[in-house]
Amino acid sequence: MPFDTGRPEMTAEEFRLLRDFVYGHCGILVRDDMKYVMQRRLWPRLEALGLTDFSAYYRYLRFDAQRRAELETAIEALTTHETYFFREPRQLKAFSEELLPQLERRNARTKRLRVWSAGCSSGEEAYTVAMLLKDSGRFEGWDVEVHGTDISRRVLAAARQGEYGPSALRATPPDKVARYFVHVGPNRVRVRDDIRAWVSFGHHNLQDPDTALHISRPDVVFCRNVLIYFDTPARQRVLRLIYDKLVPGGHLLLGHSENLINLSADFELVHLRSDLVYRKPELGGGGSP
Ligand SMILES: C[S@@+](CC[C@H](N)C(=O)[O-])C[C@H]1O[C@@H](n2cnc3c(N)ncnc32)[C@H](O)[C@@H]1O
Repeated sequence: MPFDTGRPEMTAEEFRLLRDFVYGHCGILVRDDMKYVMQRRLWPRLEALGLTDFSAYYRYLRFDAQRRAELETAIEALTTHETYFFREPRQLKAFSEELLPQLERRNARTKRLRVWSAGCSSGEEAYTVAMLLKDSGRFEGWDVEVHGTDISRRVLAAARQGEYGPSALRATPPDKVARYFVHVGPNRVRVRDDIRAWVSFGHHNLQDPDTALHISRPDVVFCRNVLIYFDTPARQRVLRLIYDKLVPGGHLLLGHSENLINLSADFELVHLRSDLVYRKPELGGGGSP
């Protein structure tokens, strides 16, 4: 029903249908108090498609020939992609100073290292990891891959381009800017080619294990600031997928506001000097709660 501005209100029933549909696809939980946020973010889609109300939009998402593309656009409108280089320095210090020496020893025979940045957004996290690997000087001549995945194709395109402005660099030490970026325009830098050579990106929905086939077994998974958008069952699905993918003894690094309490008993909590991380036990063990 159009109102003053010509934009239709989302009814409670439309909110429930759209919210459940989004949750079923990607596990993102739109909280009950976010009806107006959802309405505001999806209004431009109704306008773009010439639809008069949210019921018509729901039917479009379910049945139209273009429904897959539109679902991606809707998810895009509803997700948050906040990220930047060298986010959460204490954890990165633990990674560099304590995990990397271990990994150098563990993988000395294969000289192979895999890191998965799950929910990588526009690539800052994956490139940061590659810069830390380079900084350590431990992996030259190794087969190294930092693989970033995300559900949003738009952020993946930005990640592949590898060009950034000042906001992405707000926590990056100046010496790292000088060492790992080249200037490509006013206030615009690009990640240097030797770092890019270690990094790749791919599309992946963390709620859909079938699409994880292209991700090879990681030694370390960064899954930071992604679980916060899911409810408990959706978080547990992601953690099961990460657990299955990780090599035995491999590590999981979450965002600073996230933990596995009441979510998974599969991982061991490891107290490093600078931070806490999770580890998949060497010989299986653990069990779901
Ligand atoms: C806030 S960003 C975090 C970026 C980065 N990990 C960091 O901590 O800086 C969360 C990312 O998770 C992605 N995401 C949300 N749901 C997802 C899903 N079901 N599968 C894969 N990625 C998802 C979003 O598209 C977004 O880019």
